[in-house]
Amino acid sequence: MNNLMTDSYGRKMRKLRVSLLDACNFRCTYCMPETATFSKAHDLLSADEISLIVSNLIKLGIEEVRLTGGEPTLRSELVEISERLSEIPLKRLALTTNGFLLKKNLSALRRTNLDSINISLDSLNRQNFLKLAKVDALEVVLDAIDSALDLGFQIKINTVLMKQNIFELEDLLEFARSRQIEIRFLELMKIGVAINSFSESFISAGHVIDLLRRKYKMKQVNTESDSTSFKYQLENGTRLGFIASESMPFCGNCSRLRLDSKGALRSCLMQEHKLNLRGVPFEDYAPVIKQVLKWKPNDRIEKIEQPMYQIGG
Ligand code: 5AD
Ligand code: SF4
Repeated sequence: MNNLMTDSYGRKMRKLRVSLLDACNFRCTYCMPETATFSKAHDLLSADEISLIVSNLIKLGIEEVRLTGGEPTLRSELVEISERLSEIPLKRLALTTNGFLLKKNLSALRRTNLDSINISLDSLNRQNFLKLAKVDALEVVLDAIDSALDLGFQIKINTVLMKQNIFELEDLLEFARSRQIEIRFLELMKIGVAINSFSESFISAGHVIDLLRRKYKMKQVNTESDSTSFKYQLENGTRLGFIASESMPFCGNCSRLRLDSKGALRSCLMQEHKLNLRGVPFEDYAPVIKQVLKWKPNDRIEKIEQPMYQIGG
């Protein structure tokens, strides 16, 4: 049955991103349009439905789950969902969050199997943070990062590279060094409203690596073959990675599927085609997965008009 999860290019799907909802409490300029509309709470998958779909997908070869949004901490059932998923034999349960509502959930999450959290941090400057996320939340997010570290979570920082925050590059690296956490720089992708601002905002990983080489001795570090990032270590111990999905797409090694907040399975961030798994009996999963894998692009799709908050980070 496991062959079902391998596509015609030989890519084996082992990671699943589960979007818990499409709403968010930030308004990041590259993600949220002026007028965003979100799904109604009663249309979202319940904790029961999520745990059923995930356990079915695990029988077919999925090994790791990452909870995403919108902003997953806005789901009041976040801890319950994490508890339910902890009953399932997963190799890894992780969360991606903007960090604003994270702190109050941390101790309950710590009692579940969820042990790694990626926290978005595009700026360390209060004014710039406010400009980029439209919420004055820098202090709260930094406090959540430190609390999560104190509780022993594995933390990574995600920073989207933009002309609007490139002046903070060294501060961000120093922040990562001081906490001994990995910081990953994401290239801006042409998704939703980011398509409009792309040419004035985009900075490539290659450009940043050139800048850093002038200042630091950098050594490349090995990553898993299906990793989306490539990693370096600076002489001072700072660990950093790049997710260069525009300039160096990694589609050929991609092992990810996505479940959206209403139960549709999709093969890629950039691929709008999806098929419903909500209410589908396990016996009928095979044709859904086969079709979704047929849609999985092997070469990078240039752009997608659908907003990022609806797809999940
Ligand atoms: N390009 C790159 N990264 C993006 N994110 C949201 N929209 C985009 C985009 N267009 C990031 C968020 C978060 C992660 C889940 O995805 O900032 O760090
Ligand atoms: Fe929210 Fe993430 Fe979009 Fe920012 S990028 S508005 S935190 S969903």
